Order: sequence, then structure tokens, then C-alpha cells
Amino acid sequence: MTRLQLSPSILTADFARMGAEVQSVADHVDWFHLDVMDGHYVPNLTFGPSIVEAIHRTVDHPLNVHLMISNPEEFLGVFAAAGATRICFHPETVADPARTIEQIRALGVGPGLAVHPDVDVEPLGDLFPDLDVVLMMTVRPGFGGQKFMREVLPKIERARAMVQESASHAEIEVDGGVNLETVDQTVGAGAQIVVAGSAIFDGVDPSAAAARMRSRLDELGAQ
Ligand code: DX5
Ligand code: ZN
Repeated sequence: MTRLQLSPSILTADFARMGAEVQSVADHVDWFHLDVMDGHYVPNLTFGPSIVEAIHRTVDHPLNVHLMISNPEEFLGVFAAAGATRICFHPETVADPARTIEQIRALGVGPGLAVHPDVDVEPLGDLFPDLDVVLMMTVRPGFGGQKFMREVLPKIERARAMVQESASHAEIEVDGGVNLETVDQTVGAGAQIVVAGSAIFDGVDPSAAAARMRSRLDELGAQ
């Protein structure tokens, strides 16, 4: 039995009631996934370290900060200080991804590479032994609530095989469009951590939605 981990993205949560929102799903989830956007790498803006710090004060869960920003190296320190457990960045946003990974590790934070749907995973393989997580994106970064890109599934399978072949301990996390219809394929392709944003913070009953996703992951993990 594998414990498949659930990591809700707060992107579509009610920001006016963020404390209550994250607490309402806390019993059913393993992580929180925090999407930081700069209006430059992606055509949208979200939040910075103050929200990360506020969530860190509110729940005990580990926090994965997904940086969708053009200059991640300038902000690693503030997100580490805000309570990030892991920081994921997109390798095309830095000059030397190996150096950025080292900088994250030196801050006592787990490094992760985020892989845009248009980015090949094979050239990133040399970096895998130094990672805690490979974040495979199944939507174009920028917005919650987009349709799952099925065509990324073979790339997720390859990334999982690359982790195993390189004796890396990195976990495969899948991000974008995951809901009760797409979670089986996501796990089937090799996801160990599943991000779900709009499928959980659905404006109706996040706690019930998180419980449903949790129980499906438990069933899939038992297979
Ligand atoms: C997209 C973000 C994702 C996304 C998840 O840029 O990185 O984390 O918002 O939300 P859903 O599950 O709604 O696609
Ligand atoms: Zn994300």
C-alpha cells in the first residue's frame, strides 16, 4: 500500500477567509501547494511570502511553494524564511538550474524543478539526484481551473522512470487540472503527490471535496 499524497492549491480558495479555508481541508491533505505568480513569467499575479507565512502560522502541514516567476533566485530567501518546506522553480527562468538547486538546499529547503508542458524532461535528468520533487505540469502555468493535458501523461511516466534509474529520491508531483475524473490516470502515470486546486476549493464544500479526493487516492494506493 502506497500513501498517495494530496496537496491542495489555494489558488481558487476564498482569500478573504484563507485561514478557515486551509483549516477546513487540513485533516484530508498532506501538503499545501502555494502558487506564486509574477505577471511576467506567467500572465497572472497571485501573492508573495506574506501569504505563505500566514498559512505557515495556520496549519502544521509542509508547504510547497511553486514559483512561476522570472527571477526566482532573488526570492528564495524570503520564501524560505516564510516557512517553505520545498521550493519549485522553472529551470528556463534561471541561468544555471544546478546553482539554484544548491541555493535552495543551502537554505534548508527541499529543491524542486517545475516542468512546463512545453519543456522536455530528458535534458533535466542530470539534476534529478539533487531534487526532492519533480513537479510535472499538466496545464500551462498561470491559472487554476484549466483542463488537464492528457498528452503530458507519457512525459510523467518517463520522469518517474528517470527518477528510478538515477537512484534519485525525488517524488513526482503532478499539477494542473487534476480532479476525480483525471486522478486515476495521473496516479497511473506515476504521480506520488497530487495537486488539486479547483477540484477542492470549488466554492461549494472544500472539506467534502478533499475527503472525496483523499478516499480515491487511498483506493488507488491500495491497488
Ligand atoms: C497553475 C498552477 C496550479 C493550478 C492548480 O499555474 O500551478 O497549481 O492552479 O489548480 P487546478 O487544480 O484548478 O488546475
Ligand atoms: Zn502549481
